[in-house]
Amino acid sequence: MGEVYYVTTPIYYVNDEPHIGTAYTTVAADTLARYHRLLGKEVFFLTGTDEHGQKVAQAAAEKGVDPQSWADKMVKEFLKAWKILDISYDDFIRTTENRHTQVAQLFIKKLHDNGDVYLGTYEGWYCIPDESFLLSSQLADGNCPTCGRPVEWVKEQNYFFRLSRYADRVLKHIEENPEFVQPEVRRNEVMSFIKGCVSDQSISRTSLTWGIPLPFDEQHVMYVWFDALLNYVSSIGYGTDEVRFENIWPANLHLIGKEILKFHAVIWPAMLMAAGLPLPRHVFAHGWLTVEGEKMSKSLGNAIRPEELVEEFGVDAYRYYFLREFSFGLDGNFSRRTFKERFNAQLANDLGNMVARILTMAEKYSEGLVPDPKGYPPPAELKESSAELVRELSETMERLSFSEALVAIWKFIHVLNRYVDITAPWSLAKESGKEEELMGVLYSSLEGLRLTALFISPFMPRAAGRIWERLGIAEPLLEQTLPQAANWGGLTPGLKVQKGEPLFPRLT
Ligand code: ME8
Ligand code: MG
Repeated sequence: MGEVYYVTTPIYYVNDEPHIGTAYTTVAADTLARYHRLLGKEVFFLTGTDEHGQKVAQAAAEKGVDPQSWADKMVKEFLKAWKILDISYDDFIRTTENRHTQVAQLFIKKLHDNGDVYLGTYEGWYCIPDESFLLSSQLADGNCPTCGRPVEWVKEQNYFFRLSRYADRVLKHIEENPEFVQPEVRRNEVMSFIKGCVSDQSISRTSLTWGIPLPFDEQHVMYVWFDALLNYVSSIGYGTDEVRFENIWPANLHLIGKEILKFHAVIWPAMLMAAGLPLPRHVFAHGWLTVEGEKMSKSLGNAIRPEELVEEFGVDAYRYYFLREFSFGLDGNFSRRTFKERFNAQLANDLGNMVARILTMAEKYSEGLVPDPKGYPPPAELKESSAELVRELSETMERLSFSEALVAIWKFIHVLNRYVDITAPWSLAKESGKEEELMGVLYSSLEGLRLTALFISPFMPRAAGRIWERLGIAEPLLEQTLPQAANWGGLTPGLKVQKGEPLFPRLT
């Protein structure tokens, strides 16, 4: 087996339903997974749910149900949302599954056996919404520095992981591998955090029971973050299926939001070092989304369910909007107004009208068939623009700059639209002796649509599939690989094309 591109999302807490924040990371990861499949790579795309801990136990208690039933119910909501958003994960892991708890126990036992875990007493602050232990010096106005919510004082007997033993090595790794933590602003943040002072990390709790029991002391359950981070290795068979594990690990990319950077860029690497495992290649922490200028939260009641927006705009527009509107890495503000503007300008107009226009011409002037271009030369501007786009995609996707990748695709769409404007097939159809030229221009325009479908497919898989279908192409879109598939002339003359319904009907 060849090298596997392994990409992950955070596993989301099941205290509540998915919203546009959790969907943001998931859609981005899905687009990357699809892009790498389009490059012909073997991909393993993991997502899932984080089901233990105080926050979930509390949410369940508020509803008057046991945590497992609550988790089962919420997981259905996540699965439904990811289905609606066309998320092509290869595995969905739940931390309450046996395959996970087994690995988590085995992992912590290994660290315990190696002398990296010891019993002590934790006395300090705890933020339940973030499930994080905090020092007094870390609080902001007495609240959690990350989420701003009140913290509680905790004093309990805990097992500790000797994080301090690994901190220097983690720092060195971050310094020597600038691509390990991205973007740069997050890398600097982590480095100053480690330089500050890293104390050992509490990794068990005795004041709650909703967690994985420690194999060497059943009075304790595993600290939910220690448990959760291990999903990245339990899913692929750490300690239980070494062949599979060796084939997939290390992860190429952990995609996360910026608030959980410390866990992924300090604690997780230290855990892996303690277990003698290689580190993931990249941790990328993106920014936070606000809704109409406000922080999204349960208490403000402004969390938006992806489903709502998909009903209103469709799944392709949803994916397009979030990846195009925000600079991945920076914070962004969701607004219905900008969503609608982008929808009408870029989807209904640039893309949708272009598809309808070209397919209509094929129905009108070439009996609904892909014509034979015969000796008509492929238009240089289209060929060059497509080749340039293949390069730009590779460069922008490498940097996870989804918005720039989409801008590059839209450059190609503009070139194709302009080509149709300039060659004006409707005029050629009226002139005599222009038959061959007309067929040549139609072929090139349809071939341009094939390429468009190919290029947008990681971002808007459904719309891409529709265009592909309307072109009558028999080979599945999902089996195409770049760069070969982008070579000019892939469209076979004689295929039956269909105009179909508008892809993005204009919103009023
Ligand atoms: O932290 N904007 O789970 P979680 C952008 N279980 N992204 C957002 C967002 C927003 N407003 N809100 C959430 C946890 N996210 C842990 C993770 S991983 C081993 C354990 C996204 O349900 C973003 O990816 O709080 C963020 O990091 C994640 O959801 C937090 O999800
Ligand atoms: Mg959170």
